[in-house]
Amino acid sequence: MKSWRVLVTGGAGYIGSVVAERLIQEGHAATVLDNLERGHRSAVPAQAAFIEADLRDGVGLRRALDGMRFDFVVHLAAASLVGESMENPGKYFGNNLGGGVHLLDAAVTAGARGFVFSSSAATYGDPESVPIREDAPTIPTNAYGESKLLFERILAWYSRLKSLRYASLRYFNAAGATEERGEDHEPETHLIPRVLEAAREGSEVEIFGDDYPTPDGTCIRDYIHIVDLAEAHLKAMHALDRGIEGIFNLGNGSGYSVKEVISAAEEVTGNKIRTRIAPRRPGDPPALVASSEKARTVLGWNPVRGDLREIIASAWAWHAAHPRGYAPRH
Ligand code: UFG
Repeated sequence: MKSWRVLVTGGAGYIGSVVAERLIQEGHAATVLDNLERGHRSAVPAQAAFIEADLRDGVGLRRALDGMRFDFVVHLAAASLVGESMENPGKYFGNNLGGGVHLLDAAVTAGARGFVFSSSAATYGDPESVPIREDAPTIPTNAYGESKLLFERILAWYSRLKSLRYASLRYFNAAGATEERGEDHEPETHLIPRVLEAAREGSEVEIFGDDYPTPDGTCIRDYIHIVDLAEAHLKAMHALDRGIEGIFNLGNGSGYSVKEVISAAEEVTGNKIRTRIAPRRPGDPPALVASSEKARTVLGWNPVRGDLREIIASAWAWHAAHPRGYAPRH
């Protein structure tokens, strides 16, 4: 098989670095572009080329990519904190739309034939029912989700006007780690790393609301291993080459409540986890579970790491091997 030249924006981040890792394992040439605002230089695979650039700076971006050719652009660089998006919407629309459009123009200039976009279940808002299919109503409850949804519409225009085919991948809850790459966010807002921190340090984890209309009162999410997610990007590029484009949900199709995640983490770590019921977090839908039928049938995607304990165990192992995350060791 012919190898591809692929530009991965956000390739120093949690999911992007694993996409770059998988591309390299498959023999492709990966170039990572990241502004290192939240990403980590040491998360970028050694075999990937690295460009430090900010998508908001259109002129700088053109200069950085001048003369480069890519087969595909995989776009994961974005601001992605739901809470922050409600306080600072300008950051979300500026980064995720303004920066994204600069990148689309750069992708066209670089001769890319396909664009893979990292979208989100946040595009659906509060779903009427689960599992959620791609044709469900999209009524985001936060500015982050709206920025992802608007960018999907822009993608359709670039497909129509510039023949840049796209796959928009709506991730549900990314989780887990590879041996070398895992989750190191500052601040950390996600449930699994917070629960594991509590397991490690004996601190308390807050449960944001236990009065939701779910069986145990806590929110239900669909956790998907980052290696399965990364695999979907490769499948999407193959599909783009078969002339297929569109929007695809990526999840396992099984939901776990916050309390279920905590008891699974107790089993995996062997530690008791202290919890405290805290108020609901604004903007949290009670349940988000994917129907990924379309990704399975159209892309041929087959997630194989769906077991919640396995997902948590991989994150636990990564942290044990990298207690300071990506920070340099002293
Ligand atoms: N939660 C807690 N305590 C915590 C952290 C989280 O109870 O300390 C709860 C949340 O309220 C939520 C669930 O655990 O019900 C999962 O929360 P995460 O923050 O781990 O994930 P989210 O579902 O809020 O967000 C993720 C992505 C977003 C994306 C969203 C929907 O991080 O980028 O899924 O796709 F927008």
